[in-house]
Amino acid sequence: MKISNSKILITGGASGMGKMMGRMALEKGAKTLVIWDINQENINSTVTELSKYGEVKGYRVDVSDYDMVQKGYEQVVKECGGIDIVVNCAGIITSNKTFDQQTRQEITRTIGINTIAPMFVTRAFLPDMLKRDSGHICNITSAGGMLGNPRMSVYGASKWGAIGWSESLRIELNASHSHVRVTTVAPYYTNTGMFDGVKSKVFPILKPEYVSRKIIRAIEKNTIFAGIPFGYHFIRFWQFILPIPLFDFIFGEVFGIYHTMDHFTGRKN
Ligand SMILES: NC(=O)c1ccc[n+]([C@@H]2O[C@H](COP(=O)([O-])OP(=O)(O)OC[C@H]3O[C@@H](n4cnc5c(N)ncnc54)[C@H](O)[C@@H]3O)[C@@H](O)[C@H]2O)c1
Repeated sequence: MKISNSKILITGGASGMGKMMGRMALEKGAKTLVIWDINQENINSTVTELSKYGEVKGYRVDVSDYDMVQKGYEQVVKECGGIDIVVNCAGIITSNKTFDQQTRQEITRTIGINTIAPMFVTRAFLPDMLKRDSGHICNITSAGGMLGNPRMSVYGASKWGAIGWSESLRIELNASHSHVRVTTVAPYYTNTGMFDGVKSKVFPILKPEYVSRKIIRAIEKNTIFAGIPFGYHFIRFWQFILPIPLFDFIFGEVFGIYHTMDHFTGRKN
């Protein structure tokens, strides 16, 4: 998908990787960047900061609220016209509590924002893309959606769900010979603040600039699935060939993945 001259909407675009991807898209000549985020203060500062690179519009939309997404969609179409690229990037993790400590609100909010919201947003913009037979949906999931990990059961579930939906959508569109493309992205821990406190013994924690650039590249190349770093593509392979207790031992204990969340603090505000 060509980014130059496109209109790109990024949810969660007022912070972290969403904000970086917005800047990169403008640098590549995107016609309009539309930011949807829940944090009005960050929306304002991001619009001001990125406007020097091109046209930026920011809207406060809670992407887990179906009515807000519908209203937001109507407003965007009215003010900006059709959107070419949607990046579902908004996401949360509420804590590193074990599952027995998770509250009803934490469970529903996490699934609502990480799994259901990308569906709401895509459901709003996809019909226009199908009519034009062109467009791109990029879903930012997580490496945590590819293997079980203690102290992130609900987050992991939300991202497993997002991967399953995103992959199914891609296959569905492919089967109908549509030219609307879907890219699923599953990054490892990335240093944006969201996962502050995480300790990774073997695999280095990634730089947000690096991951954002990889995602933009994946959109441009219509990549189907981008595990970042690349080695994560092979997780499913190892899960398939190794007996589960051996996989748990190697990835969980030797590589230390199952202890990465032990000292998680997350973003302070
Ligand atoms: N940082 C990591 O280690 C990492 C690793 C893998 C995947 N991811 C995923 O990448 C995406 C971006 O992560 P990040 O690290 O840049 O996080 P971030 O916290 O910097 O950005 C997330 C953005 O989403 C917004 N948001 C939260 N709830 C929202 C809602 N209901 N409606 C609209 N906006 C909402 C926040 O205000 C914030 O601006 C997330 O989906 C995250 O799960 C992150």
